[in-house]
Amino acid sequence: MKRQVNWAQVLVECKSAIIKQIQPLLKTVGQPQPDLGIGAGGDPMRQVDLVAEKAVASIFTKNGISFTLISEESGVTEYGNTADECYVTTDPIDGTTNLSRRIPFYATSIAVSTKPILGTVYAGLVADLFHGVGYIAQRGKGAYREKKKITPSQNFSLEDAVIGLDLNSYKVKTLIPRLNGLVQRTKHIRHFGANALELCYVADGTTDAFIDIRGKLRTTDIAAAWLVLNEAGAIMTTPDGMTLNAKLDPRQKVKFVASGNREIHDTILDLIKPEKEAQ
Ligand code: IPD
Ligand code: CA
Repeated sequence: MKRQVNWAQVLVECKSAIIKQIQPLLKTVGQPQPDLGIGAGGDPMRQVDLVAEKAVASIFTKNGISFTLISEESGVTEYGNTADECYVTTDPIDGTTNLSRRIPFYATSIAVSTKPILGTVYAGLVADLFHGVGYIAQRGKGAYREKKKITPSQNFSLEDAVIGLDLNSYKVKTLIPRLNGLVQRTKHIRHFGANALELCYVADGTTDAFIDIRGKLRTTDIAAAWLVLNEAGAIMTTPDGMTLNAKLDPRQKVKFVASGNREIHDTILDLIKPEKEAQ
């Protein structure tokens, strides 16, 4: 018989272990770092990424869980004898640039699923590491910011909205025409620099929507936030309004729109339709 796991407890343990174990490294993150090579997601690895990843793996192992780790840093690693029964997808540090510049907005993302597929994620944590705040969701059990159940924004109007928009790309010139109408109508545009956490801001109504249509973000960054959003009652689709699903893999990229409610979501989708470019 399969053992019951208290996923919320395991994820909270991960959050505490990561915060504790990265602490000594925070003093030197702004200094030149040793060359540790390129991670599975294609970015240079830093010691802080590896320490956070190791903390995740050791908490799952300590809890007697056999799993396949899918990490933005070391790629895919099997732990235990039944590693194909549980997949743990992580971006150990989301917002590495913020962390290295001491901008207090960086997170860990951990998603647990039955298969290496986004649609099978059933437990997830996004932990704001600077403030020590955890967003946790379990399928069918809602989404929580620490102990408080969260719900998204009911603001329907772009004219009053705060909307996150990731334009962090050298291809920004080709993206702008598609986003032109949206930017012109939206009162407040933001990008904080750690997309897993920015998606949780949509889930708890801090912001009204978050849009990333670059095709640059990996599924390792969004896997946990996807569940947090769904369980909070927010909406996350492809930019064409289709169901978002993808392989959980450090090289798998996604494009998406996440919104607090259907009304504002439909307005955004309509404004970013390819045929509306540069109007
Ligand atoms: C980055 C952040 C950032 C986004 C980048 C991501 P990382 O994650 O989420 O907001 O613009 O595309 O790569 O690299 O710090 O894990
Ligand atoms: Ca990362």
